[in-house]
Amino acid sequence: MELINDINIVDHLSDYQSNKVKIQSGSFEHTTRKLYIESYGCQMNFSDSEIVSSIMQKQGFQTTNSAEDADVIFINTCSIRDKAEQTVRNRLAQFNAIKQHKPQVTIGVLGCMAERLKSKLLEEEKIVDLVAGPDAYRDIPTLLSQVDDGRKAVNTFLSREETYADISPVRLNSNGVTAFISIMRGCDNMCSFCVVPFTRGRERSRDPHSIVKEAAELFSQGYREVTLLGQNVDSYKWSPESSLKGKAQIERHGTNNYVSFAHLLEMVAKVNPELRIRFSTSHPKDITDEVLHTMKKYQNICKYIHLPVQSGSTVVLDRMNRTYSRAWYLNKIAAIRSILGEDCGISSDMIAGFCGETEEDHQQTLSLMDQVVYDFSYMFYYSERPGTLAAKKYQDDVDLKVKKRRLQEIISKQQQHSLERNQRDLNKVQQVLIEGYSKRSKDFLQGRNSANKVVVFPKKDHRKGTYVQVKIKDCTAATLLGESV
Ligand code: SAH
Ligand code: SF4
Ligand code: F3S
Repeated sequence: MELINDINIVDHLSDYQSNKVKIQSGSFEHTTRKLYIESYGCQMNFSDSEIVSSIMQKQGFQTTNSAEDADVIFINTCSIRDKAEQTVRNRLAQFNAIKQHKPQVTIGVLGCMAERLKSKLLEEEKIVDLVAGPDAYRDIPTLLSQVDDGRKAVNTFLSREETYADISPVRLNSNGVTAFISIMRGCDNMCSFCVVPFTRGRERSRDPHSIVKEAAELFSQGYREVTLLGQNVDSYKWSPESSLKGKAQIERHGTNNYVSFAHLLEMVAKVNPELRIRFSTSHPKDITDEVLHTMKKYQNICKYIHLPVQSGSTVVLDRMNRTYSRAWYLNKIAAIRSILGEDCGISSDMIAGFCGETEEDHQQTLSLMDQVVYDFSYMFYYSERPGTLAAKKYQDDVDLKVKKRRLQEIISKQQQHSLERNQRDLNKVQQVLIEGYSKRSKDFLQGRNSANKVVVFPKKDHRKGTYVQVKIKDCTAATLLGESV
């Protein structure tokens, strides 16, 4: 087996959290200057690029698919693992070639790496003209004019309030059927391995009415699925104090004087029964039975939960500062199974080779996987991030070879489990929302079932953006194959 790295592992599983290049484009009219924007990292970053494009559109920019053609090149970056940052540096080197023969082009670094490295990026990467952290996107027009005046421009202030609630994102690379809606920003957890609290700042929730409005607008434009995004959606909390003008509506939400995630789910589910709702990411310490019951109550809330465990060993979880134990986690899984049943999709994130992880700890991760049987997982080996709690407190003492071997064992087990879970679906009839042609052939369409599994089936007369009942006839570990009935 070849060496494993983040990129190819994630690549064949899904594009979530992937570090691979995504070129995003949209089309604006009656404009002159051109913006090329490329995004890395999690869905929140992709969602932010849509906010940045909206801000740039107001400045008269149109997006282009070609970096060569652009007046402004933005790269929206991720810092989650060292490899993610390496990919961005390589990409910047390629943009350097463009800058050589087109010195007037502005190159900007946005997102988490911008926040982590701040003005150091200008020194380290000589071609960078502009650096904007995740809470500084409204300032981009000012930063651009500083660059036009011949100055380098940096804004990496983190905010306690910014949610970009009033900005209508320009949907990039959209299939016109599924869209993401950011419901909160930042993270107040302090998982010891994680750089996100440093790059994204304090947790804050967005006004629920602006979320419902965005979902309703998407529905009227033909979208049929929204995914509510946050680093820890279960701690969503919005109160009238966060915005006094929301007070009147909030009081209708009964029991408490705030909108919880369960309330929010209900509000979005009521937009239209034909609009599917997904959400990510759930945190095992915060997910409540109320959320599970709300999921059960509304058929349009998809029966799928991404509940990252990270490790199956309580000792390691403790060092990771995840604030739950193996037993607590397994109780949450039991609650999901008892309220939502065996068919509810469950996925996870796993880190192999965290500081001090013994062979015994690793075996506990494998045995937890056997107990849960995840539908799929995003799997990584530990990459120390400067400034995090783990970097300060613990030694990154698991040998790289051992990390990779353990990761491979986790991946092999997951593949077996994905196949098993998919085989359970054989001969069942499932509702699928059609997202477009299958990757391989225009004679086939693909979409996802409620549990978030990709289903491929012959096209017949079916159309993108509609629901279809599909009988599952065959499967691989990654895909269900069926026929509409
Ligand atoms: N908010 C989400 C995770 C966001 S980061 C949550 O709490 O679950 C996505 C995933 O990247 C994490 O779940 C973790 O598995 C992985 N990850 C984060 N930091 C990492 C690091 N330093 N090394 C390896 N993987 C890491
Ligand atoms: Fe990182 Fe933990 Fe926050 Fe997730 S919950 S973003 S892993 S600190
Ligand atoms: Fe990466 Fe930042 Fe998301 S570090 S995973 S882009 S929050």
